[in-house]
Amino acid sequence: MIKNDLFLRALKGESVDRPPVWMMRQAGRYLPEFMELRKKYDFFTRCQTPELASEITVQPIRRYGMDAAILFSDILVIPQAMDIEVQMKPNFGPYLPNPIRTKDDLEKVIVPNIQDTLGYVMDTITLTKEKLNDDIPLIGFAGSPWTILCYCVEGQGSKSFDKARGFCFTQPELAHQLLQKITDTTIAYLKAKVKAGVNAVQVFDSWGGMLSPTDYQEFSWPYIQQIVDALKDESPVIVFGKGCWFALKEMAISGASAVGVDWTCSAKNARYLSGGNITLQGNFDPARLLSPPEKIKTMVHQMIREFGKDKYVVNLGHGILPNIPLENAKAFVDAVKEYQE
Ligand code: CP3
Repeated sequence: MIKNDLFLRALKGESVDRPPVWMMRQAGRYLPEFMELRKKYDFFTRCQTPELASEITVQPIRRYGMDAAILFSDILVIPQAMDIEVQMKPNFGPYLPNPIRTKDDLEKVIVPNIQDTLGYVMDTITLTKEKLNDDIPLIGFAGSPWTILCYCVEGQGSKSFDKARGFCFTQPELAHQLLQKITDTTIAYLKAKVKAGVNAVQVFDSWGGMLSPTDYQEFSWPYIQQIVDALKDESPVIVFGKGCWFALKEMAISGASAVGVDWTCSAKNARYLSGGNITLQGNFDPARLLSPPEKIKTMVHQMIREFGKDKYVVNLGHGILPNIPLENAKAFVDAVKEYQE
């Protein structure tokens, strides 16, 4: 039994005294204790060493006491496991030297055995669960197939992922084959994570908003729906799509337990578009954490009033930025804990 089960209860839609809080990308670069480890070990060493990854996962919890922890890893461990080389270049971000652009490229992409390729993640989960001591739930995650395709085809980060979109529009059959391989790998991976002990999973469709609503229905949504269908009887699933307010309806009726929203969609509109009954998660503008702590607290209380305390998980509208002062992150979490109707 998990001692603080606020997060799991909110995912079930149960009434709570206050909503739970965690922050997307909470395990990372704004924390000095993380930067210490970052000096000593490169990115994938941190991901692949259970002792390091579990330590990084619990660092923000020790400091701020969020209501859920998210496993330290990356969405790009999936293409890596599928035999696509992924590097994390300092001051540049992800770099995939052999992007997938042709039929030949695609044929080399494998749907791997999860234990052989990503067993280290399961070991990290075991170790992290020990460190968390059942105090709070642990969230596992994966990128959406479309978001993973973006990196596989583009070969690096991008503001608009033109090459990835171009690939889908000029070679739709190849795109769908790649999306299906990613989906099959992701489903097996998330199932293994649940078996290893995560209490919920989140699918990050970080680049869903790059697609038109029509193209989203072809290249992103059906694959996320497959993941939800495969996972929902084993674990609560949260679906987050950056810039995907237009898909809130599908997300809300998909069988997911909760739907993430970014800060460009108001609470009122998100409730309206999602049908009013699903748990929502979000949506503080990450740059708003640069406001003074007192202002952050007022804005967080206002946000909770707008979403309502029930069927709601307080979060940012996207990942925390690296330059956020520690006391501002603390103000965000404390504001939620201090919230009273
Ligand atoms: O949420 C957490 O704290 C858990 C850890 C986590 C990381 N990446 C660690 C990380 C999670 C959930 C992710 C997800 C992720 N990774 C996404 C989806 C979420 C989102 O923000 O949209 C995406 C698109 C990626 C791909 C990725 N990984 C990029 C673009 C970069 C470089 C830019 C950046 O954010 O720094 C990474 C590297 C990465 N992943 C870092 C961390 C802490 C920083 C690199 C480092 O520490 O050396």
